[in-house]
Amino acid sequence: MADQKLIKLKVNDREIQVPQGTLVIEATRRLGTEVPSFCYYPGLSLQAACRMCLVEVEKAPKLQTACTLVATDGMVVRTDTDQVRQARKYMLEFLLANHPLDCPVCDKGGECELQDMVFRYGADSSRFVEEKIHRPEEKWSELVYYDAPRCILCFRCVRVCDEGMDVKALGVGMRGANSVIIPNRGDHLDCEECGMCIDICPVGALTSGTYRYKTRPWEMQYVPTVCAHCSNGCKTTLSIRNHEILRANNRDLSGINKDFLCVKGRFGFDFTNHPERIRQPLVRKGDKLLPVSWEEAAQTAAAKLKAAYDPGGKESIGFIGSNRTSNEENYLLQRLARATFGTNNIDHHRTADYAGLITALGDRAADSLLTMEQLYQSKAVLVIGNDPSNQNPLVAWQIRSGIRHFGTKLFLINSNEIKLKRKASQFV
Ligand code: SF4
Ligand code: SF4
Ligand code: SF4
Ligand code: FES
Repeated sequence: MADQKLIKLKVNDREIQVPQGTLVIEATRRLGTEVPSFCYYPGLSLQAACRMCLVEVEKAPKLQTACTLVATDGMVVRTDTDQVRQARKYMLEFLLANHPLDCPVCDKGGECELQDMVFRYGADSSRFVEEKIHRPEEKWSELVYYDAPRCILCFRCVRVCDEGMDVKALGVGMRGANSVIIPNRGDHLDCEECGMCIDICPVGALTSGTYRYKTRPWEMQYVPTVCAHCSNGCKTTLSIRNHEILRANNRDLSGINKDFLCVKGRFGFDFTNHPERIRQPLVRKGDKLLPVSWEEAAQTAAAKLKAAYDPGGKESIGFIGSNRTSNEENYLLQRLARATFGTNNIDHHRTADYAGLITALGDRAADSLLTMEQLYQSKAVLVIGNDPSNQNPLVAWQIRSGIRHFGTKLFLINSNEIKLKRKASQFV
């Protein structure tokens, strides 16, 4: 922000200016200096659980956690001293004390933050000789599995379920080395099955029922695309092997949704390989729909349109688009209707009266549109008669994030007690 006060600090003898209130870990990242972290996750509350981010701060009596320390003017930080390197080594040794070291069969192997950290900062041997604590893997739902020995207790899953999703289905049980993550129904989960906890887990402790043990990350192709399940249009990356989509996520944090995907975007792709999926055009012949070539389908459609158009003119035909097709495809459909047939009879399957809303907004329609980022940073949001948690889940996620980070006031007008009511300043 333009009027935000800036402060100066030094990181490894390099000076940097950051807005007042910036965390030391963020200041170091701006310089491209890595401070390793597990529990720190931008957007979620601070936890200071893993101690991986310890740094030296001049005049401080001991190492400090960079993820909770706010940078101050004149601060001198060192991220790569003998003491810091030693601390990272010890922390990783602790994290591996009860770890099963089953990376060769773990879903996360090859894209695991713990593997990367041990490779970069860890010791090459362990001093622990005691028998490791073992717990069997738990199936919490069809989609969520938990493997406690792999868990590094960063609590990202607990926080994303609570703060991000407002579901609060995960908690922490036991103490010390016996600590585990626990689901809300004792031995199973009763939740929205959004998969955010699986996605955010830095290790292979939470795995997905649809993906686990099917492949290795390096065996897949990664195809960026846009989720078509609702009008939010979240960016997603499909992981594909042997022409089959095995996973969807947005781990590169690109797009309007950053890492968010709802249950539909994350798991709703099995239809692509459904045996009943229509894979070629069908034309009705007699009382049967029969497969035909694209040429024959196009010729049949042209002949039928002509048969209606010739006697009745442009008002005798109409075109109905789909909300499952892209903007570009719908643009081409209206071009066909308007330019080729000269008709304005064009519509699509709608879930709300958007045309009526745009007409009502009149000249201000263009100025009334918001980006997802603007929605996130809004001072107040009024939602009338919609349930974003179900219909536009990214909108609900943005509103919840805005409430947490910017104190957004939410006002709801609805005949149903929708989930967002829990976060509303006022509900009518
Ligand atoms: S799947 Fe979603 S709702 Fe269920 S526990 Fe994980 S984060 Fe929470
Ligand atoms: S299950 Fe994963 S995200 Fe949750 S605390 Fe364990 S390591 Fe962290
Ligand atoms: S909110 Fe869900 S359904 Fe809508 S575009 Fe995003 S992932 Fe897809
Ligand atoms: S990242 Fe700082 S304590 Fe975990």
